[in-house]
Amino acid sequence: MRLENKVAIVTGGAAGIGRAICELFAQEGAKVVIGDIDSGGGRETVARIEDAGGSAKFVSTDVSQESQAQALVEKAVSEYGAINVLVNDAAAFVFGQVQDVTDADWQRVFGVNVLGPSYMVKHVLGTMREAGGGSIVNIASVSSFIAQPAFVPYNTSKGALLQLTRCMAMDLAPENIRVNCVCPGAILTQATELHREFTGEEREKFLSDAADSNFMKRFGQPKEIAYGALFLASDESSFMTGQPLIIDGGATAQ
Ligand SMILES: NC(=O)c1ccc[n+]([C@@H]2O[C@H](COP(=O)([O-])OP(=O)(O)OC[C@H]3O[C@@H](n4cnc5c(N)ncnc54)[C@H](O)[C@@H]3O)[C@@H](O)[C@H]2O)c1
Repeated sequence: MRLENKVAIVTGGAAGIGRAICELFAQEGAKVVIGDIDSGGGRETVARIEDAGGSAKFVSTDVSQESQAQALVEKAVSEYGAINVLVNDAAAFVFGQVQDVTDADWQRVFGVNVLGPSYMVKHVLGTMREAGGGSIVNIASVSSFIAQPAFVPYNTSKGALLQLTRCMAMDLAPENIRVNCVCPGAILTQATELHREFTGEEREKFLSDAADSNFMKRFGQPKEIAYGALFLASDESSFMTGQPLIIDGGATAQ
């Protein structure tokens, strides 16, 4: 029960890594509030948590809209009281070379991946202060550090999210609010599957190349990222702030 008596908001909790984080946090004693644009998936995560004996709520939220981020925090507070943990997991997966990226693409990828987390933090600060501090965990990526072919908008946004993490950590440390990020490598989720409109052999090649790109020669599972988020969310990481936790099977160590 590493999150006993804690309340956690998790954006992007309707699927993939975010859902694994919600389920693990609930298993470790947290009350979880999920914000996502996918209502069906969000409700399913709540049902899975309740079936396992935990407590969770879903709030339909597009994190790129500040008013919706604010409403998510307000609903979480009215449901469970002060918020102790915020996980910013929701992301837009927008890829391409610079000449292919439209203005709307840039707005979307920065709106969800960078502005969304900033709105969430801005509106959760008051309740975290009341609770005497808190832990914010951003789900960044190995793409925060490296270049990948035709990944310009996504990697630029994830680089910005790493820097947002460091800057907020510096400003919020005096209030006992820690800000870190988990940086996953290749994890098998719907986002990986839908990465591009691959079919047949192309898709198989993409998946096997991605798995081959690390020391472990396999994809990671969402739960292997959730354990990193759990460490950062819990008091076990009480002297850690402003840092990335890279979980990538060694991909960026080679
Ligand atoms: N899968 C990987 O290989 C991988 C690698 C590195 C980093 N990541 C990061 O992990 C996180 C989760 O990725 P995933 O693979 O589980 O993806 P996923 O597609 O399975 O889940 C993403 C969730 O975010 C939600 N979402 C999208 N836009 C939103 C918005 N505007 N407001 C609220 N919710 C929104 C989706 O509905 C979905 O439930 C992302 O931040 C992603 O960048 C994933």
